[in-house]
Amino acid sequence: MIYLDNAATSWPKPSEVLKAMTDVLERAGGNPGRSGHRLSIAAARVIYDTREEIARIFGIRDPLRVIFTSNATHAINIALRGILKPGDHVVTSSMEHNAVMRPLRSLEKQGVRLSIVPCGADGSLDVRDLASTVKPGTKLVVMTHASNVAGTLLPVAEIAAIAHKAGALVLVDAAQTAGAIPINMPGMGIDLLAFTGHKELQGPPGIGGLVIADHVDASQIEPLMRGGTGSRSESEEQPGDLPDKYESGTANLVGIAGLGAGLKWVEERRIDEIREHMKSLSRTLIEGLSSLPRIKLYGTLDPERSVAVVSFTVDRMRVSEIGLRLDEEFGVLSRVGLHCAPAAHKTIGSFPEGTVRLAPGVFTTLDDIQEALQAISRVIRS
Ligand SMILES: Cc1ncc(COP(=O)(O)O)c(C=O)c1O
Repeated sequence: MIYLDNAATSWPKPSEVLKAMTDVLERAGGNPGRSGHRLSIAAARVIYDTREEIARIFGIRDPLRVIFTSNATHAINIALRGILKPGDHVVTSSMEHNAVMRPLRSLEKQGVRLSIVPCGADGSLDVRDLASTVKPGTKLVVMTHASNVAGTLLPVAEIAAIAHKAGALVLVDAAQTAGAIPINMPGMGIDLLAFTGHKELQGPPGIGGLVIADHVDASQIEPLMRGGTGSRSESEEQPGDLPDKYESGTANLVGIAGLGAGLKWVEERRIDEIREHMKSLSRTLIEGLSSLPRIKLYGTLDPERSVAVVSFTVDRMRVSEIGLRLDEEFGVLSRVGLHCAPAAHKTIGSFPEGTVRLAPGVFTTLDDIQEALQAISRVIRS
């Protein structure tokens, strides 16, 4: 089997991740922050260590500004719903995943003013279009770091400079880039970063986070949920302390332990080296696909300007048929269709049919890519 669906979720997971998840239940299975006994303290230690690791990896000082969530979608919803009020102006791109688009469309119905900057057919954003859309008083600019459809990277630092000039905050959806590309929040001007644990950070499904930069005033971000935090229990009001303000209910200890092990694994291999490996895989994939007949490729076709996510269609063939045959006849696992990102497909010209998406992962080898290319060639020619 050749798994090329890492943009949906990475697989397999490092064995260290699986081990950390079972170990934590045996060794530290108390409810963190709720009791003073040793199992509760041990659980809280695992969680704090992972917070520290995340703060370090994204370049912020205060680990308490790492808010654990179920996934990137949850983190994006906390930020969007917590910041935007009726009458506020928010700017996004036309390459967004529904994790951004759906909450924004819902907020739009409640009176939030939404502007969508159109991207080019290769998924790239011209910052001049952003500059003419962001106005003094714009509250928030929210954009994906890399498209989950075309792989195209958006120029986050330039986006942030434009947003900050107008006094807007910047929320980056790093679902496709956390663990795949080095991210330094202060260096790139990111105020809020939403990440998911189960993709290139190598963690399990069900864990993600919102990272609030050290300088951001969290009093302007309302919590999405309220409830028990184990802190200030005398009060029936939600505490304002971080991270408790946004973390009601029992934490996903097993997921956080797995994420912590995934982060360590990624850091040991160095994100910049992982990035080089992924670039060579996507270069081989793009070159191989380009030489096949009837294929249309999407995106920049430049591994320097994208993550390792490659989308294509084949003239006179349904994407569903290609995906099914690759799986059933050759054991090549892809993802076909709209990838929860209809806006992105409209932008690149593949709506409503969608594309076949190939997303190698850190465990994918060049031989895997060559085998997948042969399989695609046979599907197309037969
Ligand atoms: C660009 C992008 N944003 C957001 C998400 C949502 O991530 P999750 O499903 O982990 O919340 C995804 C997942 O595929 C994604 O690719």
